[in-house]
Amino acid sequence: MIAAVFLAAASSLSGMWSFSKDGGEWRNVRVPHDWAIEGPFNPKTAGWQGKLPWKGEGRYWRTFDLSAADRATLADGGRAYLAFDGVMASPRVRLNGKDLGGTDYGYMSFTLDATEAIRGASNLLEVACSTKLHSSRWYPGAGLYRDVSLKVVPKRHVLPGTMRISAEVADDRSAAKVTVRYVSSTGGEQEYSFNVHKPRLWSMDDPFLYTLEAEGESFRYGIRSFRFDPDRGFFLNGVRVQLQGVDLHSDLGPLGMAYDRDAMRRQLLLMKDMGFNALRTSHNCPCPDVLDLCDEMGVFVWDECFDNWSRGATGRAADANLEDYVEANLREFVRRDRNHPCVFAWSIGNELPGWSDKDDWHRCGMRRDRFERFRAAIREEDATRPVGIACCHLDTLDELPGLYKPLDIVGWNYGEKYVPFRAKYPGKCVLYTESASALSEVGYYELPVAAHKEGYSRDVLRVGSYDHCAAPWSDIPDHEFARMERDAFCGGEFVWTGIDYLGEPTPIANGATFGISTNEELLARSSYFGAADLCGLPKDRFWLYRSHWNKSAETVHVVPDHWNFARVHGRESPELPVYVYTSGDSAELFLNGRSLGVRRKGDAPERVPGCTNDYYDVCARYRLRWFGVRYEPGEIRAVAYRGGKAIGEDTVRTAGEAARLALSDDLYNAPDAKTRFVRVEAVDAAGTRCPFAADRVAFAISGPGEIVAVGNGNPRGYDSFKDVASHPLHCGRCVAVVRRTGGGKLVLSASSGNLAGASIEIR
Ligand code: GAL
Repeated sequence: MIAAVFLAAASSLSGMWSFSKDGGEWRNVRVPHDWAIEGPFNPKTAGWQGKLPWKGEGRYWRTFDLSAADRATLADGGRAYLAFDGVMASPRVRLNGKDLGGTDYGYMSFTLDATEAIRGASNLLEVACSTKLHSSRWYPGAGLYRDVSLKVVPKRHVLPGTMRISAEVADDRSAAKVTVRYVSSTGGEQEYSFNVHKPRLWSMDDPFLYTLEAEGESFRYGIRSFRFDPDRGFFLNGVRVQLQGVDLHSDLGPLGMAYDRDAMRRQLLLMKDMGFNALRTSHNCPCPDVLDLCDEMGVFVWDECFDNWSRGATGRAADANLEDYVEANLREFVRRDRNHPCVFAWSIGNELPGWSDKDDWHRCGMRRDRFERFRAAIREEDATRPVGIACCHLDTLDELPGLYKPLDIVGWNYGEKYVPFRAKYPGKCVLYTESASALSEVGYYELPVAAHKEGYSRDVLRVGSYDHCAAPWSDIPDHEFARMERDAFCGGEFVWTGIDYLGEPTPIANGATFGISTNEELLARSSYFGAADLCGLPKDRFWLYRSHWNKSAETVHVVPDHWNFARVHGRESPELPVYVYTSGDSAELFLNGRSLGVRRKGDAPERVPGCTNDYYDVCARYRLRWFGVRYEPGEIRAVAYRGGKAIGEDTVRTAGEAARLALSDDLYNAPDAKTRFVRVEAVDAAGTRCPFAADRVAFAISGPGEIVAVGNGNPRGYDSFKDVASHPLHCGRCVAVVRRTGGGKLVLSASSGNLAGASIEIR
């Protein structure tokens, strides 16, 4: 039986649709929709794609009417276009029974001409999609996961995807020449230019956007100049800018892949507070709205189209038409994104192998003629930005001489591989496209502290938060900071990753690399790499980056983030390290009011207990460390200084018994956000978070809104994000994501067993 859906306005076709998975019952869902995030998790499967049921076939339908104005436009010879920001995967679209087509890449947006099929009223729009042929190294989501819209335009209009706005800024920046090119539906190729005197240049601090009109439509653009210099890095409007970037996958944690502008905005605000200025859309075309946000927020974007050209995204290994497929998608991608001032480079792939005939994997790899062809195609669509790729295979330097010559810029992942590359290709611009695959888990402090970067707590399957751990192929952040200070020829780094994502649960996964072989049900389903956890709550590492990157705010953060160590692994009152991450140059630490001394950045490095080499010596430059602090209950307080002047302090207190719940509007929700993250904590009578509370919290909402997801950042949690009636706390906290659907008083309430409940009015 087909369920009824209601009609919505013609321009946005997101909202309520009917949905059926694998031929099952039809039900109503809200688009953007990710059928897999509903779960259930299958703990028995490996966690690389999040243990979620993303493989399958989905069908969606809805009806819609045209407005009187749109009908009149169509009657006058106008045209109707359906725009899909992204469907995972292999979508086929039908309108009123007529097949309109689709696309072959789940991350790609596409626009279909619906004019011949559309009616004034009762249009039936159907989308079928399947993830069966899609493969992925992480969680890709499934279904109509981004917005759908309908645009009805007059007979004379800008053909979709043809607008091209470029701005040439004079050397002294006193003027800019803006050139506009597009194809008019009735007038053919159009081109004109105009000058802007004293242009307001787009920058990180002032991301000013201009608007122009063409054929009655508005287009946004920015005026800025940038360049890469092989010896001096990245310049914006004539000034060198160090790219302090993060890599982000497209998922939004407990919301899965279902795009939500407010949730994305929150991620970007969080990263901005950490001090980032650049995003790498690893490894696929982002939702177009992400680029709108980056334009508005002054964030540079390394815009990446593909992970691999074969298995990473499409399951097209050994496809005879690989070049055609890649080129066609690159062209679409560039046409879609080229008017965004935030985009500073096109990336054609990630970590592809060098080409050889030995197997399918290598046959789909990097080859000089492929680079030449793909670069030429991109430059035809946009001649204003460099074309690059992110690499990791150093063997390609010797095995495929001259391979990288056709590219304008080459990004290298991990272990300062850009250094040997530069020796072979002096004069080529480089970036550090993946740095610091560091690993940690909110609220867990292994003792004794890991004395080796692969010192994960394999016995308890957790990763400590002293920021000592990194993947075998990578390093802790401090090493990358030092490299970026040393290597000014490199435009900057992109940290893997800013925020945890679903899938790729390195190192709490089975495998020889991590030395773990155990029951899959004990293992993780989301990553440990993020500076923030899956719910976007900062880990300690977030503050380490903030202390080094964010020059406009002071940071003082004590690690560990709780002070409840009365008994650890059977030992009473152990000795433990205390770290302070601060933007200051020194700090004094106090335990229950007694000074434990002052530490200064740049002090002679003290060895991490048990460490037999100098791996952690670099930390003395970026963090302040006190080893062997004997635990006693009470409080540990750091006061930080710069040049002898106090800049701030942070105190961590011993929590008593959990007494009540506390709710707060997350700091990184945009003021006008309709989707808001609410933090939930179990606290003691004095208001201190209880770091081991794992109570189940029940939620209720009253007023015009819904709870759309819940989560707690635990990479090994198997409670559904979509079972919003309740969720367990992890380390004394969790998050409820609430969406307002109308005006009026909206209240979220939380309760849990004997704890006093709490409620919060949602703005
Ligand atoms: C890189 C890869 C990323 C991610 C990362 C984890 O090799 O490009 O997608 O897997 O490693 O460290």
